[in-house]
Amino acid sequence: MQPLQYSYNNRKSEMLHIPLLGVSLVLLLFLASPASSCKEEEKTSLFEFLNGLSQASGLTSSWQNDTNCCLWEGVICNGDRTIIDISLAAMGLEGHISPSLGNLNGLLKLNLSGNLLSGGLPSTLLLSSSITVLDVSFNKLSGEFHELQSTPNSAMKVMNISSNFLTGYFPSTTLEGMKNLAALNMSNNSFAGEIPSTICVDKPFFVVLDLSYNQFVGRIPSELGNCSGLKVLKAGQNQLNGTLPSEIFNVTSLEHLSFPNNHLQGTLDPECIGKLRNLVILDLGWNGLNGKIPNSIGQLKRLEELHLDNNNMSGELPPALSSCSNLTTIILKDNNFQGDLNHVNFSTLSNLKFLDCRSNKFTGTIPESLYSCSNLIALRLSFNNLHGQFSSGINNLKSLRFLALAHNSFTNIRNTLQILSKSRTLTLVLIGGNFKHETMPDDDEFHGFENLMGLGINKCPLYGKLPNWLAKLKNLRALLLDDNKLSGPIPAWINSLNLLFYLDISNNNLTGDIPTALMEMPTLEAAHSAPIILKFPVYLAPFLQYRTTSGFPKMLNLGNNKFNGIIPPEIGQLQALLTLNLSFNNLHGEIPQSVGNLTNLQVLDLSYNNLTGEIPSVLERLHFLSKFNISSNDLEGPVPTGGQFSTFPDSSFFGNPKLCGATLMRHCNSADAVPVTDVSTEEYADKVIFAVAFGMFFGVGVLYDQMFLFRYIYFG
Ligand SMILES: *[C@@H]1O[C@H](CO)[C@@H](O)[C@H](O)[C@H]1NC(C)=O
Ligand SMILES: *[C@@H]1O[C@H](CO)[C@@H](O)[C@H](O)[C@H]1NC(C)=O
Ligand SMILES: *[C@@H]1O[C@H](CO)[C@@H](O)[C@H](O)[C@H]1NC(C)=O
Ligand SMILES: *[C@@H]1O[C@H](CO)[C@@H](O)[C@H](O)[C@H]1NC(C)=O
Ligand SMILES: *[C@@H]1O[C@H](CO)[C@@H](O)[C@H](O)[C@H]1NC(C)=O
Ligand SMILES: *[C@@H]1O[C@H](CO)[C@@H](O)[C@H](O)[C@H]1NC(C)=O
Ligand SMILES: *[C@@H]1O[C@H](CO)[C@@H](O)[C@H](O)[C@H]1NC(C)=O
Ligand SMILES: *[C@@H]1O[C@H](CO)[C@@H](O)[C@H](O)[C@H]1NC(C)=O
Ligand SMILES: *[C@@H]1O[C@H](CO)[C@@H](O)[C@H](O)[C@H]1NC(C)=O
Ligand SMILES: *[C@@H]1O[C@H](CO)[C@@H](O)[C@H](O)[C@H]1NC(C)=O
Ligand SMILES: *[C@@H]1O[C@H](CO)[C@@H](O)[C@H](O)[C@H]1NC(C)=O
Ligand SMILES: *[C@@H]1O[C@H](CO)[C@@H](O)[C@H](O)[C@H]1NC(C)=O
Repeated sequence: MQPLQYSYNNRKSEMLHIPLLGVSLVLLLFLASPASSCKEEEKTSLFEFLNGLSQASGLTSSWQNDTNCCLWEGVICNGDRTIIDISLAAMGLEGHISPSLGNLNGLLKLNLSGNLLSGGLPSTLLLSSSITVLDVSFNKLSGEFHELQSTPNSAMKVMNISSNFLTGYFPSTTLEGMKNLAALNMSNNSFAGEIPSTICVDKPFFVVLDLSYNQFVGRIPSELGNCSGLKVLKAGQNQLNGTLPSEIFNVTSLEHLSFPNNHLQGTLDPECIGKLRNLVILDLGWNGLNGKIPNSIGQLKRLEELHLDNNNMSGELPPALSSCSNLTTIILKDNNFQGDLNHVNFSTLSNLKFLDCRSNKFTGTIPESLYSCSNLIALRLSFNNLHGQFSSGINNLKSLRFLALAHNSFTNIRNTLQILSKSRTLTLVLIGGNFKHETMPDDDEFHGFENLMGLGINKCPLYGKLPNWLAKLKNLRALLLDDNKLSGPIPAWINSLNLLFYLDISNNNLTGDIPTALMEMPTLEAAHSAPIILKFPVYLAPFLQYRTTSGFPKMLNLGNNKFNGIIPPEIGQLQALLTLNLSFNNLHGEIPQSVGNLTNLQVLDLSYNNLTGEIPSVLERLHFLSKFNISSNDLEGPVPTGGQFSTFPDSSFFGNPKLCGATLMRHCNSADAVPVTDVSTEEYADKVIFAVAFGMFFGVGVLYDQMFLFRYIYFG
């Protein structure tokens, strides 16, 4: 990414910065002579602009009638007292853009990016013969982008109308007249129709075209091959189909070619791809491409990022890939690539940071040459047909943080853990679905794993116990040991894993009581805020009717084991829990009243145990509960009717012959009836807003690394 931006910016500075330097010198001279004031008619145009705004608090103190408008905030004049630059990015401006700005005959640059401006983009700005740089990106402009008859004498070089709500077809006639255009960014709007073939006609300086995140359809026009100076061509996230026209590969100046998330088909032509000698980023992910990666890719010596994920590509990786020594990122996941990864000599790819080959058909062992990529941060080879044992060479990867090798046929778990545990950098290790029928090593011999936050050794299946060395992993947040054949009890040290918030040990052969130590997990105890109560259901997913947050689950899943004893009343301490699953065990006794204190719970599954007594009516307080299952127990009495209970299907209660309720086989007689607790009358709207803000806070802020973890955990 870096060299690309540099070269593009350099080009821009040739175009813009040099004149601007001159301008600022003139400006300094001008400021020194207090006598000169701006032109009255230009001041009037600025006032008309100001009048069009409904919110301009940042401007009103300096935009005063009795002052020189050349000194107003964001306004720059030249020596002739003519306004040449208006820069009002991110000023919180609201309202519409007045056409009067088009009357400023000397205006070169207008930057209104990052405001809340709405309405249309006035055509006077497009018809201006002076404006060279127009940036109205990140606003709320809407409506059709008007097609003008012509734009004679346009000086426009940079036009950024991205990230608005503009609609309509590609304005080809309007843009045709802009013969000086160097950069056009229309991304992230709702433009539709086909990309016109005339896009580059008479545009000798055209360098940047960004059409991504729109609704463009049809084929990529072969005439793009005439855009001979183009460096950046991006049109991802549209509905383009057909093949990549071979003419595009004539544009040897291209540094960034990016069409992800379209419906493109066909193969990468060996003769074509090798021509793009300047290519730095190639992104064709999420399309319908097939065929192999041609060996000619080795001619792209500047290539840094290769994204071909989620296509139907196949064949072996070309050995010449090792010639692309500047590669930092290779993303090939979800294709049908096959063959031995050892065909590529990775030792020449010393800049490699991300290698993702998940879900392909690669065979053989992990290439030893990969261990010389000392900058590697993330290695994902999950869901392939790799085999063999780990080599201690993996400890040369001093930057490795994410390692996902799940669902292959690797062997020797003891050796694997011995090697991996020496790493000080690893934060996530997903190696489940390997080591079939081996035994979980349970000695104290593993030291290290100092920074491990997530560990998945699930679905192997492994025999043995929950190993004691886990107690040393003080940074562990997520532990997945589900779907093994582990036996024995949950050890008391479990509460020493201070940061653990996701524990899945379901589908094992674990026995004993549910230890109270498990009820003392600090991260599960700390509910981050007062419970949020929504008065009406909010349907966000088919089975999740009520939700609080961005939804990464704080989870305890002990389901399908052989736990016996009671559900400890201390369970009420785990206030942060979103999911609690104790199903398919041998638990008896009553459902503790304290479960009613788990007010963040979204999923509660106690089915297939031997629980007795009544369903505590305090469960009506669980306002976020959207999945509830107590079927196949021995519960009795009336099913509560308040809170979420009206939304649960009868199947939640099946197999409890002594339960009664309006929709169940057994109706309650009046003696059974429970009073309906009054659901609180909190303001609905307030709460929804709070929930959304809460979700955003957690989604992007504090718990970012946990989110990242979960993306990996869910997708292996
Ligand atoms: C600015 O002042 C001039 C002269 O005093 C007056 O004619 C004009 O109406 C004023 N404009 C605004 C917007 O107040
Ligand atoms: C407009 O201003 C924003 C914020 O300062 C800046 O990021 C952007 O590059 C500017 N646009 C142009 C075309 O210079
Ligand atoms: C708008 O696009 C132009 C050209 O690509 C670029 O120089 C400018 O920085 C962009 N503006 C923002 C706010 O990103
Ligand atoms: C176009 O603008 C978007 C923001 O709207 C920005 O993310 C993107 O990088 C820009 N494209 C180019 C090529 O500068
Ligand atoms: C698209 O625009 C919206 C609204 O301005 C913005 O929040 C979002 O980040 C933009 N997306 C991209 C990919 O630039
Ligand atoms: C491509 O898309 C256009 C417009 O949506 C459609 O008419 C055409 O049939 C599609 N072509 C193919 C090969 O899918
Ligand atoms: C490219 O431009 C040349 C000269 O303007 C023209 O003759 C030719 O038809 C164009 N080719 C394409 C594919 O547009
Ligand atoms: C452009 O590409 C086409 C098809 O690949 C080829 O026939 C043509 O000669 C090329 N034109 C130029 C000017 O290189
Ligand atoms: C590889 O990257 C380095 C550093 O970014 C750069 O100096 C070098 O020119 C690049 N190599 C090629 C062949 O572009
Ligand atoms: C489960 O553990 C018991 C002993 O606790 C043992 O007898 C039984 O064979 C184990 N079952 C499986 C499937 O491993
Ligand atoms: C529920 O929590 C409250 C306050 O934390 C506490 O006073 C009460 O005893 C708890 N109820 C149960 C049944 O644990
Ligand atoms: C369930 O509990 C009852 C009463 O404690 C007991 O009689 C019965 O054997 C238990 N059933 C199972 C399957 O454990």
